[in-house]
Parts: sequence; C-alpha cells; structure tokens
Amino acid sequence: MVHNRSQFLLLAVAIATFVGHSQGANILGLFPSLSPSHLIIQMSAAKALAEKGHNVTVVTSLKPVVTHKNINVIQVPMTKEEAQQMSDTVGAMAKDDNSNIAVSLLRMSGQMDFMFKKNAETLKDDRVRDLYLNKDNKFDVVLSGYFMNDFQLGFARKVNAPVIVLATMPPMQMLNPLIGNPLEISYVGVNSAEKGKGVPFMQRLTTYATSLGFGLFAYINTKLNKNLYKEVFGDDPNMPEYSEMLKNTSLIFFASHAASEGPIRPNVPAAIEIGGIQIKDTPDPLPQNMADFLGNATDGAILLSLGSNVKGSHLKPDTVVKMFNVLSKLKQRVIWKWEDLEKTPGKSDNILYSKWLPQDDILAHPKVKLFINHAGKGGITEAQYHGKPMLSLPVFADQPQNAEGMIKKGFGRTLSLLTLEEQPFREAILDVLSNPQYTQKVASFSSLYRDRPMTARESVVYWTEYVIRHHGAAHLQSPLVHMNWIAANNIDIYFLFAVILVISILLFKTVVKFILRKFFSKSKKPKKEKKH
Ligand SMILES: *[C@@H]1O[C@H](CO)[C@@H](O)[C@H](O)[C@H]1NC(C)=O
Ligand SMILES: *[C@@H]1O[C@H](CO)[C@@H](O)[C@H](O)[C@H]1NC(C)=O
Ligand SMILES: *[C@@H]1O[C@H](CO)[C@@H](O)[C@H](O)[C@H]1NC(C)=O
Repeated sequence: MVHNRSQFLLLAVAIATFVGHSQGANILGLFPSLSPSHLIIQMSAAKALAEKGHNVTVVTSLKPVVTHKNINVIQVPMTKEEAQQMSDTVGAMAKDDNSNIAVSLLRMSGQMDFMFKKNAETLKDDRVRDLYLNKDNKFDVVLSGYFMNDFQLGFARKVNAPVIVLATMPPMQMLNPLIGNPLEISYVGVNSAEKGKGVPFMQRLTTYATSLGFGLFAYINTKLNKNLYKEVFGDDPNMPEYSEMLKNTSLIFFASHAASEGPIRPNVPAAIEIGGIQIKDTPDPLPQNMADFLGNATDGAILLSLGSNVKGSHLKPDTVVKMFNVLSKLKQRVIWKWEDLEKTPGKSDNILYSKWLPQDDILAHPKVKLFINHAGKGGITEAQYHGKPMLSLPVFADQPQNAEGMIKKGFGRTLSLLTLEEQPFREAILDVLSNPQYTQKVASFSSLYRDRPMTARESVVYWTEYVIRHHGAAHLQSPLVHMNWIAANNIDIYFLFAVILVISILLFKTVVKFILRKFFSKSKKPKKEKKH
C-alpha cells in the first residue's frame, strides 16, 4: 500500500500523532471509597495505566496497598473518630440480614450517610481542590470510583476532562442509566435463569419487586447526590444542572465477566468489562522456601489463609488445635498463613507457616489442590481464576454469602469456623481433594474466565487511551441517556395506539348502529305492518 519513502514517512508521522497522543497522559483517579476491596480493584486499574507510562494521580481516603512509582497518591485520611464510626457502620452492616439486597440497601441508607459525607469532604480538601484551582494541572481523563456517588462526576467537569466510571460490580440498575444500558428485568436480576431455560413467573415477580425497591433507593440516593453536588460544586455558576452533568459519562468499567459469570445480557458499547483486573496475568516467582516446599509436594499441597480480619477473638485456641490435628496428619503439604511465628499451632514436616503470603502466586502453582479460606471476595475470585477448589470457613459480614455463592457453583464445601470440629473438617478436606467434580467445575469456569480477546489490564489501558484519543466518547453514547421513562418505554406510542383503538371502536359502533337503524327501520316497518 505504501509506495515510496515519503509516503511511508507521512504514514509513520500520522500514526505517531494518532497513537502518540495518548502516551504519557495525565490521568486522575478519584477513589475515596472507604471499602478496602473496592480500592484494590480501582488501584489495580490505575496501576495498569501507570505501568503503561501514564502519569496517574489518585485521590483516596484509605491508604492503598496496590501502588506504583508512577502513581502519585493524595490521601485524605479519616480521623480517629471517623475510623471508629466507620467500623461501627461496617459492624452494623454485618449484623443485617442481607438476603434481599434492595431491602438491606434501604435499611443501610441511614448508615451510609457517613460515607457520602466523607466522600464530599475528601473532594473539598484543599489539596484535592488544588487539582482544578491550580491551572498547571491538566488532566486528559478522569476515572471516577463508583459507590452510588454520582455527584463526584462533577469533578471531571471542573478539570475539564472526559470521565470514565470505574465500578466494582457487574452492570446494575443504578449504574445502567449513566450510559443508557438496558435494564431487561424480565431475565436479568436477582434470580438468574437456569441454563437452557427461561425465567418462570414467580422468579420474575420477585425480581420485579426487588427492582421497585432499587428504584425507591435510587430515588432517595439521587436526592442525596443532588445535595452533595450543590455542596461541593455549588459555588461555581459555570457548572451545569445536576441532571445535565450526569449525561456526560464516556464509559463504565464493570468488574465482571458475563461470558463466565453471567448473567447473559445486552450491553451498550460504552459498557466495558474488566473483571479480574486485580489478578496478575502471569504469576511472579515464589520465594525460594515456598518454591521448594511446593515443588517437592509429591501428594499435592493445600493453602490455608483466613485473611487478615479473622484472628484473635474469632479463632479460638481449641479451634486452632483441632485444625492442626487434622492438617498435620494429611499426606498433602500445607502452607498456613500464621502471624505469630514464635507461637505456631504446632510443628509438623508437612506444614510451612508464613506470616506473609503471595496468595495469588501460590494459587497459580500446579501442586496446590485445595484452598482453605474465610470466603473473602478477593480470595474466592483468585481461586476461581486459578481453577482451585475451596473449603470456605466464613465468620461474618459478606463471608457466609460469598461461601453460599461458591457452593452453588459447585466449587467446593463450606463449614462454620466458629463451630469447627475435627471429624467434619477432615471429611470435608478429603472430599474436596478426592472428588474430581469440584476441581472440574472450577477449572472449566477458570478456562472460560480467562478466555478473552484482551486481558482485563489490556482492556483498561486500551479503552482509557481510546477516550483520551477521541477526547471523550460522545459518539458511543446511547440515545437512551437523553430519554425519559415514557419515551424510553414507548409509553406515549402505546397511549396513542390506545386512543386510536378507542376512537375506532367508538366510531365503528356509531357507524354500525347508524347502518343497523337504517336497515331495520326500512325492513322492519313492513314486517311490523304485516303483524298488525
Ligand atoms: C503528573 O501529574 C501531576 C498532577 O497534574 C503533576 O503535578 C506532575 O507534574 C505530573 N508529572 C509529570 C512527570 O508530568
Ligand atoms: C526439593 O527440596 C530440595 C531441598 O530439600 C531442593 O533442593 C529442591 O530444589 C526441591 N525440588 C524442587 C523441585 O523444588
Ligand atoms: C461531555 O462534555 C464535554 C464538554 O461539554 C464534551 O466535549 C463531551 O463530548 C461530553 N461527553 C459525552 C460522553 O457526552
């Protein structure tokens, strides 16, 4: 196609300007969420961009664990009192019955007030306001971490940059409207369909009711966001109306992967799935002692990690003894995450204690045959990615629910850590190790989960640079963003049809009556005369 050198040069220059434009861009991440697991996902996206050579500035409230030298962190930490209030809130949430998500959201709305206030305060911090007040700062795109905080999107307008929403969940009712993603509640919602089947009436009814609950919650949430928008950006007369400002989102990154996790649903082009962004594509080499320990595990190995939240009060001394008695008698080798190396549960040749674990890298090791965990979302996701079956020992918060979900998919077993006994513990371990069904199910999930045209990191980089190259993605925007409920559902057209139908029926009736009367009055009169 390229005929001579000058044409080639021209092409090279054109490509360089086109592609080069997004090289070394200035990217702003607003991640003031008070949830550590949200921050891990958001920072993992920021890290993928930093590794690509972009200059990433992030605003957080918590101290991030995922970092990079190209990421400049502005942390607006919680005060001691706020941290206490936060842990009370989390405690209260853990006690709630979370079986119906919409109901628990409505119940939580009071407790969440605090999180929204803190979010607004973070954006009003002097160092954060400086990002738009100091005209030396220029941002090419803003990534806005989502936690029902739509008002935060106004910040992108302040720094005059397109905005991408970074969500830590799959497409859902409260996020979809930002990009005009369809709701499709007849088959997408709390009750997923069985494979190869539709959704029966009762399931659709409960999904619909839940959706109404969400609608109510969204209504309350919108009011709250409107107020926060006014509070944070109200002093600037150039800022658009809240409802107008919302119609400016270029893309949403969703932390999901429908092809493996479901639900199967239509998504608009502005919905980009980046599920698993927090997991490394290729594992780092293990520390030498662990590499040797696992490499020589001829009968396979088990990883045991109960997370950092489960310790002390939750793990009774006799529970630890019971666990040790079972594990030390197995022929498999065990890596056990244990904080206090001076006081281990006991010495055994097949157990390696470690204060710190590269969990993701260990799970990637082919010798690891079982992951005993506390059903934290992060750990389960990593095990699913690496195709390792699990035995979950949940304690509180979302853990029992996570374990439940894992069991439903057939990826392992669960036992309560609080009531753990030797016999069922041993029996469950041997069952997961010997029954190939668990491994097969999680392995086939894993192969679907990883089979993508682009990895999650590549997707984040590609689509962020895409938005930078095109100065936003207004061309991808669904018209649904600009339509109200009546237009979106063609209610006005149904109404028009109904009116036409009613008028036609009335007209028809009148005409028929008219004709009948004429006909009868002509043909009846003689008949009547005959009778008389
Ligand atoms: C990165 O961005 C920040 C925030 O705008 C800016 O202060 C800093 O100078 C930038 N660094 C480089 C190397 O461009
Ligand atoms: C097995 O252990 C020995 C040390 O006991 C070590 O030298 C060797 O590298 C290990 N084998 C593997 C495959 O890691
Ligand atoms: C958002 O607003 C800016 C400035 O008005 C505009 O350039 C951009 O195209 C808009 N983006 C979308 C997705 O509408």
